[in-house]
Amino acid sequence: MFRARLDEVAAQVQLHLDSIMAPLEGQIAEAMRYTCQGGKRLRAFLVMESARLHDVDPAQAIWPAAAIEMIHAYSLVHDDLPCMDDDDLRRGRPTVHVKWDEGTAVLTGDALQTLAFEALARPVCHPEAAVRADLVLTMAQAAGAQGMVLGQALDIAAETAAQPLTLDQIIALQDGKTGALIRWSAMAGPLMARADTGPLRRYAQALGLAFQIADDILDVTGDEGTAGKRLNKDAEAGKATFVSLLGLTGAQDRANDLVDEAISALAPYGSEAENLRDAARFVISRDS
Ligand code: IPE
Ligand code: IPE
Ligand code: MG
Ligand code: MG
Ligand code: MG
Repeated sequence: MFRARLDEVAAQVQLHLDSIMAPLEGQIAEAMRYTCQGGKRLRAFLVMESARLHDVDPAQAIWPAAAIEMIHAYSLVHDDLPCMDDDDLRRGRPTVHVKWDEGTAVLTGDALQTLAFEALARPVCHPEAAVRADLVLTMAQAAGAQGMVLGQALDIAAETAAQPLTLDQIIALQDGKTGALIRWSAMAGPLMARADTGPLRRYAQALGLAFQIADDILDVTGDEGTAGKRLNKDAEAGKATFVSLLGLTGAQDRANDLVDEAISALAPYGSEAENLRDAARFVISRDS
């Protein structure tokens, strides 16, 4: 059920991304389309499921679903740049700066970011301008200098820090780097319905952290072919991760606890939230 739903959302969001980018021409547009292919589409899934739980029309919810996948794709293009993680493989294919060049990669990320905000601001996204403004405002906060960008900056700074980060510092780093976009995705449904975002915020808070712990574990134990990206890079680069601090078993235990916490937060939704419960189990058992 969860797998089928994830596949369904992935297909829907791909079609939507393709149609949003169809009018664009030139090399940056080509690189944008390339970047937006593949991936698990977990963030789009969270948008569509949180929207379904709040009876939001899927034809509207697909706009924030596409928008968050564009922000995520932009963050990956920049994350892979030589000045950041310096990676040559993403989603099983050469990274944008390898396939084209660094300038193209920077501009592709920039253009994906602005297109994401354009998607949220379009009247077809939601009939109420105030709701669209709220989606734009909260996404800006999630992606920006207090959210994902801050987490990425802390991640890079930790590589050269004199002291290893404490557990609380690693939690704060991950909360921005990965947590902020995942939280926004799960809150998009109640935001569109003008409903209470509390339960899904608590769910996604735990889920996002579990997701990044799984990413850190995969970096150590995963298979490059299956993951579609280079692995065994965190320790080499001196990254501060849950694995570097707690070891593999400690990190796994922590991820399991967080999944239980995420599942408990869904209690108000009853059996309707089964797909989101499965998503929480999925994030720590995935191999890519
Ligand atoms: C990878 O995210 C980067 C992190 C935030 C850990 P995903 O694992 O969701 O990447 P895709 O979208 O499936 O490629
Ligand atoms: C990337 O985290 C997070 C963002 C792009 C915001 P990582 O650097 O751990 O992701 P991977 O391992 O390269 O996918
Ligand atoms: Mg990184
Ligand atoms: Mg990286
Ligand atoms: Mg990683």
